[in-house]
Amino acid sequence: MRMVVPNEQLLQQTSDELKKAREYVASKKDEIISLKERNRFHHMPEVGWMNDPNGFSVYQGEYHLFYQYFPYDVKWGPMHWGHVKSRDLIKWEYLPVAMAPDQSYETGGCFSGSALEVDGKHILMYTGHTNPNPEDESFVRQVQCLAVGDGINYQKYQHNPVIKTEQMPERSSLTDFRDPKIWKKDGTYYCVLGSKSDENSARVLLYRSENLMDWTYVGLVGESNHEFGYMWECPDLFHLDGEDVLIMSPQGVPVEEFRHKNTNTTVYCLGHLNYETAHFERRVMEEIDYGLDFYAPQTTESLDGRRIMIAWMQSWHQNMPTDQYGWVTSMTIPRELTIKGDVMYQWPVREINKYRTGHIRHDSVIVNGHKTLAGIEGRHLDMEMVIDLKQAKRFEIKVMKGQGQETTILYEKDREVLSFDRRQSGSGIEGLNYREMPVSLIDGKLSLRLLMDTYSVELFAQNGAHAMTSTVYSSLDAQGIEFISDEEVEMTIEKWELNL
Ligand code: FRU
Repeated sequence: MRMVVPNEQLLQQTSDELKKAREYVASKKDEIISLKERNRFHHMPEVGWMNDPNGFSVYQGEYHLFYQYFPYDVKWGPMHWGHVKSRDLIKWEYLPVAMAPDQSYETGGCFSGSALEVDGKHILMYTGHTNPNPEDESFVRQVQCLAVGDGINYQKYQHNPVIKTEQMPERSSLTDFRDPKIWKKDGTYYCVLGSKSDENSARVLLYRSENLMDWTYVGLVGESNHEFGYMWECPDLFHLDGEDVLIMSPQGVPVEEFRHKNTNTTVYCLGHLNYETAHFERRVMEEIDYGLDFYAPQTTESLDGRRIMIAWMQSWHQNMPTDQYGWVTSMTIPRELTIKGDVMYQWPVREINKYRTGHIRHDSVIVNGHKTLAGIEGRHLDMEMVIDLKQAKRFEIKVMKGQGQETTILYEKDREVLSFDRRQSGSGIEGLNYREMPVSLIDGKLSLRLLMDTYSVELFAQNGAHAMTSTVYSSLDAQGIEFISDEEVEMTIEKWELNL
C-alpha cells in the first residue's frame, strides 16, 4: 500500500518555539486553572488567547480538538495550535501545544485547518501565514501545509507547502487563501479552502489529492459575486441525511433584519456538490446561530457516525472581560447535526446527559405575571421547557438574575421573535448586546433548551431548529431565574445541574 507522507520526509527536531510555548503553558496553567472564574463544561484555553476550533477529529478512538492559540497574551498573536482530547466530547484533557510557527512559510502563524486519521497517523492540514510587512497587508501570503503526529507530537512535512499560491485559480487574491478542511471519499482526499478573487468576491475552492502531498485544483465550490461578503473563512463540507452540507464563516455580509448582525457571520448551505466540477448546487442557505458569540464552526464524524459541530463561542472585535484572569474565550458545546427538510438541526451531544445531576421537574406550571420555581436557579445547568403560550403575547425568562443584573430571553408571539438581551447583565461587554431570531410556534407551543455555564448561555428552540449562543459575564452571584408572562401560560420544565 502507498504510504501517505513517509516518515523520512518529516522534520525531526522539536523547535525552540514549540518548546518555549509548551514550557510557558506548563509554568502558567496551575495559577490560572485554579480560579473559579472559568467555564465548567465548555473547553477553554489553559492560559492566554484562543480562537477557531481546528483539527476536530477522531484519532485512535478518541476525540481530538486543536485550536488557534496564542498562549502568551490575552489577545491574538502569531498562531500556535493548542490541543485537547476527550473520550466523550465533554471532558477535555489538555495536551502539550501541538504546533508553533517555526518555519519560514508560517512566520505569522499556523492558521486554521483540519485533521484526519490515515494509516494510524494523525494528519494535520493547515495554513501557513506570513506577513512580512505589517504596514502593508498586500505582502501577506497564505499556503497550505501538512504535519503528521501520534496524538501528542506533530512533525511538519519537509516539502511544505503542499498547496502554494501558484495553485490558486486565475484572478485570485494572493493574500487570502486559508483554512483547509480535508475529507476522504471513495479513496480520494478532498479539501475545501476559503479564498477570494482579486476584486474581493468571496470564494470556496475545491482541491483533490491521492496522497495528501500532491494536490490538484478542481474548481469553485461557490462565489459571493459581491453579494454575500468579501471573504469566506473556515469552509467545511460533508454529507448528512442525503444532502451535501457546506458550512462557512463569511465576512462582510450585508446585515438583514434578523440575520448576519455579527461582522463575521456563519451559514450552512444545503445542496449537492459535483465532485468533478466542484460546483455546489445550493437550494438552502441559512445562518447557523443567531447569537452574539458564535464563529468558525468545524465538524467531524463521531465514533458512532453522528455529525458533530463545535464552534468558537466568541465573536471578533469584542472586549473580553475574563482577560483580567489571564484567559479568554471558550468553545461551544459540541452539537449533533441532523437535516430535516430545509433545516439543519443542532442539539447538544447526548454525552452531556451523563453529567446531569439533581433533576427537578415541574409539570403544567401556570405562569401569569411573575413566577419563580423551587429548585429552578443556578449557573451551571441544562434546562428543557415546553411552553404553551395560550392567549399570552409575551413570555420572558430572566436568567443570571441578582446583584441588580439580569439576562432576558423573551418570546413575542405577534412578531414570532425570540430575543436574547444581555444589556442588563452587568457584562461589561461594549457594543450591541441584543439579538433577535424568528421562531414560529408549533401547535401554539415553544420548546426551549438552555445550557448555561459560568459565562455563557446557549439556547436551542423548537428541538434545535434554531440556535442562539452568547457569552454573558454577570456577577457569579447572579443565579436567579424568573418567568414572566402577560397572560396565563402553561409550562413544563425540567432542570439538571451540570457537574464534571
Ligand atoms: C477565522 C480566522 C481564520 C484564520 C484564523 C487565524 O476566525 O480568521 O480564517 O485561519 O482565524 O487565527
